[in-house]
Amino acid sequence: MNDAIEIETGGAAAQAGSWEPKLIGFLCNWCSYAGADLAGSSRLKYPPNLRVVRVPCSGRVNPQMVLRAFQRGFDGVLVAGCHPGDCHYAKGNYYARRRLMLLQRLLDYVGIEPVRFRFDWVSAAEGGRFAEVISELTESVRAVGPFQGVG
Ligand code: FES
Repeated sequence: MNDAIEIETGGAAAQAGSWEPKLIGFLCNWCSYAGADLAGSSRLKYPPNLRVVRVPCSGRVNPQMVLRAFQRGFDGVLVAGCHPGDCHYAKGNYYARRRLMLLQRLLDYVGIEPVRFRFDWVSAAEGGRFAEVISELTESVRAVGPFQGVG
């Protein structure tokens, strides 16, 4: 019930021209969260649309978490982890990549625009890259408008 209310609010706000994309980012603790921290402490400019969920590893994110985020009214979802070869749990990001690539195809199949979901690598030293990823995701979600649900 609350999910439906949030989605409708997004639609009304879009019509009124005041809509801002609501994004959620699952960031791995060791790289991408630290990259986000660096972007903040370096005072880099990027849109304030992302709510951050810190996860131990990108491999911890399962597709249900992404689907649930859309169900709860988020317009876009980011999963970010360490670069290949840098995962602190050796292969977590490889598992994540395989799983989330399938999810991307599923989202497209069920009618959720693929631009609403992004999986990327951001290291602890890449504050600039973090800001770039958030800016790009925000703009691509803004272009497709509020998430209206499936079907
Ligand atoms: Fe960062 Fe695994 S610890 S992706």
